[in-house]
Amino acid sequence: MLSETFYTKMLNASSTGIAEASELLRQGHCVAFPTETVYGLGADATNATAVARIFAAKDRPSFNPLIVHVASIEAAWDWVVPTDWARDVAKAFWPGPLTLVLPKKASLPDIVTAGHDLLAIRVPAHPLAQQLLQDVDLPLAAPSANPSGRISPTTAQHVREGLNGRIAAIVDGGPCAVGLESTIVGGPEPRLLRPGGVATDAIEAVLGTALQQVRDQATPTVPGQLSSHYAPNAKVRLNVVRPHSGEVFLGFGPSDCDVNLSPTEDLIEAAANLFAALRQLDATGQPIAVAQIPMQGLGVAINDRLARAAAPRG
Ligand code: TXA
Ligand code: MG
Repeated sequence: MLSETFYTKMLNASSTGIAEASELLRQGHCVAFPTETVYGLGADATNATAVARIFAAKDRPSFNPLIVHVASIEAAWDWVVPTDWARDVAKAFWPGPLTLVLPKKASLPDIVTAGHDLLAIRVPAHPLAQQLLQDVDLPLAAPSANPSGRISPTTAQHVREGLNGRIAAIVDGGPCAVGLESTIVGGPEPRLLRPGGVATDAIEAVLGTALQQVRDQATPTVPGQLSSHYAPNAKVRLNVVRPHSGEVFLGFGPSDCDVNLSPTEDLIEAAANLFAALRQLDATGQPIAVAQIPMQGLGVAINDRLARAAAPRG
């Protein structure tokens, strides 16, 4: 039996908390931990059973590959073959909210990449993620710590709401600073697989070329490319100027609304608030109307997540 029932322990951001998290991970359990993007649900990437427990806890389709997290750029090259472009981009954005998809190198179990010969890898910047990766001294496979298809968690409490009783522990590091998942580039040529916490134009500046965006294909290769994803329970309507009666309104900029992503039209602040705001409005049980968000900087990733939240559900 892979699914287990736990009393899910809340661990604090102390060295004792980190040591306890490391011990549980070494024993093959799943532990949620903060990164600067969203909370991840970590497991020892070298242990197929531990990785399988991630899929069980999240009810995640087994064909959806996972991102492996390591403490440093050097450690990343133990697991993937770096190309020249990848070295440049890694140097510019790691540690940080960027994931690279590159040819898989050594002997990680197949379940991590769901059989693909490319591996998604990231060096997170969050100090607690860094401490945990250094302490545990293992690569950690970690998807966002939410039930599959639901809104990603940006606080320990969000993780608890979705996965309590299904995972061994949660390291509480407070709210995530970026609040959106990492930008994913590669495959193995530099293509944009998912917009995210690093703005696309910043990556293009390092590459010296435009990134081709791969998404919403007829046959998606990975579920992050499925159109309905990151979904609240409520219906979501986008680019709304005036909400209908009965709708709750998620605003942006100076606005009379129920929750405001950023009263000052700061896209970084809006990204950090997005998932918590969707949860808060979803809890009202009413349909959600969302104001228009500009398509620039992190607005591209925000609009990507909103479009998925609003897509017809399968
Ligand atoms: O910010 C983040 O990326 C967070 C934190 C925890 O690191 N993680 C995250 O993981 O968002 P997840 O599993 O929720 O989303 C990862 C996306 C999925 O859409 C998955 O299909 C795609 O990355 N992916 C993973 N491995 C891949 C691969 N080998 N090739 C292409 N896409 C891949
Ligand atoms: Mg996810």
